[in-house]
Amino acid sequence: MDEWIDYYDSTHTIYASKLHRELHFQLIAKDIIGYISSPDAVVLDYACGEALFAAKVAQACGKLILAEPAPGVRGRLIARFAPNTKIRVRSLDDLRQMTEKSVDLAVMNSVAQYMTPTELDAAFAVIKRLLKPGGRLVLGDVLRPEVGMGRDVVALLRFARKNGFLKDALIGLLSTALSDYRQLRTRVGLQRYGESEMIAKLAAAGLTASRAHFNIGHNPWRMTFVARQALSPAAAGQLK
Ligand SMILES: C[S@@+](CC[C@H](N)C(=O)[O-])C[C@H]1O[C@@H](n2cnc3c(N)ncnc32)[C@H](O)[C@@H]1O
Repeated sequence: MDEWIDYYDSTHTIYASKLHRELHFQLIAKDIIGYISSPDAVVLDYACGEALFAAKVAQACGKLILAEPAPGVRGRLIARFAPNTKIRVRSLDDLRQMTEKSVDLAVMNSVAQYMTPTELDAAFAVIKRLLKPGGRLVLGDVLRPEVGMGRDVVALLRFARKNGFLKDALIGLLSTALSDYRQLRTRVGLQRYGESEMIAKLAAAGLTASRAHFNIGHNPWRMTFVARQALSPAAAGQLK
């Protein structure tokens, strides 16, 4: 759904303030770091957005690939992280040219809702090709069909109250309600998946997944899945 990519490339108001934006990316970076299992790991952040704290993630791994479809965002990532030799910025198309089985950990956080189911399958295929045997995909912030926008509002207000930007969050919610985000959310919509539905979708892509106990980021009503390369029947047989 290219309209969402255009939205994220615009001067949008999805973050209520500079502080909210920084705290958001700080929390995402902390949660991604929690999934890095080795200081040599090659990590891919698929549709990373502004990734303000990517340098922290890069400190915890061997190499960090920031992949982002929005060209304006990508330009800022290139400018911001050019001096960091551990970070590479790529388009999503570039990922198709990368060496297969070269990534230990792929993260796709708060992205699936903006993709059509077919686009998401195509992304899973790209990621599966890139994952090393034993590599993992962490798919975060997946919206569930039975949880409405009210929970998003409550989660944001709790996050804001805890971190001292409640007033900005309330103003932000009001301006979001009147903004093109709201119009786009109503017109184009966001994709939602049930827990077993997403596990089945990942299985169809050749990835064995389970739901994590905690979601990445601040919204406990959304889901995170950890997926691995499914073992071939022969390899699975050897483990018996
Ligand atoms: C809410 S931001 C998430 C950014 C970051 N991963 C995070 O957790 O903060 C959504 C991201 O999805 C990307 N995006 C939107 N629509 C997309 C699509 N159809 N295919 C791939 N990426 C998309 C946007 O460019 C943006 O980077």
